[in-house]
Amino acid sequence: MIQKGLKDVVAVETKIASVDGEKGELRYRGRKVDEIVGEATFEELATFIWNGKKESVDFKSVRKLPEHVERVIDTLPGEISIMDATRTAVSAFAHLSFKELPLYEQAVNLTATLPVIIARHYRKQQGLPIIQPDSTLNHTANYLWMLNGEKPSDAQVEALETYLNLTMEHGLNASTFAARVTISTESDLTAAVTSALGTMKGPLHGGAPSGVIDLLEEIREVGDVKAVIEKKLSEGERIMGFGHRVYKTEDPRSILLREKCLRLHGKDEWLDLATQAEKEIIELLAIHKPGRKLYTNVEFYAAAIMRSIAMPPELFTPTFSAARIVGWTAHAIEQLSDNTIFRPQSIYVGNML
Ligand code: ACO
Repeated sequence: MIQKGLKDVVAVETKIASVDGEKGELRYRGRKVDEIVGEATFEELATFIWNGKKESVDFKSVRKLPEHVERVIDTLPGEISIMDATRTAVSAFAHLSFKELPLYEQAVNLTATLPVIIARHYRKQQGLPIIQPDSTLNHTANYLWMLNGEKPSDAQVEALETYLNLTMEHGLNASTFAARVTISTESDLTAAVTSALGTMKGPLHGGAPSGVIDLLEEIREVGDVKAVIEKKLSEGERIMGFGHRVYKTEDPRSILLREKCLRLHGKDEWLDLATQAEKEIIELLAIHKPGRKLYTNVEFYAAAIMRSIAMPPELFTPTFSAARIVGWTAHAIEQLSDNTIFRPQSIYVGNML
């Protein structure tokens, strides 16, 4: 008996996070996300996820990219997507002196520099001058500064930090699993993050929020949720931002992001459309996919948050990666602390010649 997609298969023990799909509950190191996300900065929460300590890590001193990594980014053609450019640039970190650093320091370095890589390639694509990191700004504010070349408002930083804090870790999702599989061969942390980035970009995982924007724009244009959704379902398409492998109730991150959107921006035309469409889509999915329990996942309101801070869709998945790198590196380090190489079995179903 095989479990396609390893559905319900338990592959690791972890102390990093727990995801209860029935209760709709996510905990980082035992603490409910709804209790800690609002009270900690990205830097504090990253440290908590890496080692369970409530302290803040210093990203500012390690934000500068090595020169050869800058050159790698600058030689890539502009049409290469930001995810592909980021994966290539991270791969170039695999030089000897970096790999000799303690694993935790490597994790801090890669997390601090991922937004720098993303912003560099994005601004190059836009034909804009590169902005250097600002050592007076925290991790989240500095990311917005490097993307836009303007000091962000407190509301923008708060909105983005809530999103980053809610998405930095989520158990054994596809990209985290990819990171663990790679490091389980006793490869290195750079390779694990490179694998994770390659896995993250697919539309069934980290690529969903730009699909949500497309969906909502189509609904706005057509003016009829039912017509849009039924057409997609009849063509065998998935509805982006709905359904989750683990949650059989509403994704707790989606609830928190919706609350944050409403609190920060009050009534917003686009948000109204999202909340209206959400209810109708859930009802339609219940009719067309009976017994499947399909609700919004984190990507649905992530799209709203991103839109509210004027983040362009091509930056959605890279920004998600800039958060999830905390989980990838935490899991890779945990994997190495009690490692067994991943090597499942397959059943040959072809002809015997
Ligand atoms: N739209 C329509 N039908 C869906 C959706 C959806 N969004 N999600 C699941 N279903 C249906 C499937 O067609 C399937 O029905 P069937 O058995 O009649 O074919 C049933 O629900 C179960 O689907 P599975 O693929 O078995 O569910 P799985 O747990 O493997 O998939 C996934 C989870 C990939 C997230 C899926 O719900 C999906 O494709 N969602 C849309 C993409 C998306 O929003 N991805 C972001 C996920 S969150 C994240 O990665 C951070």
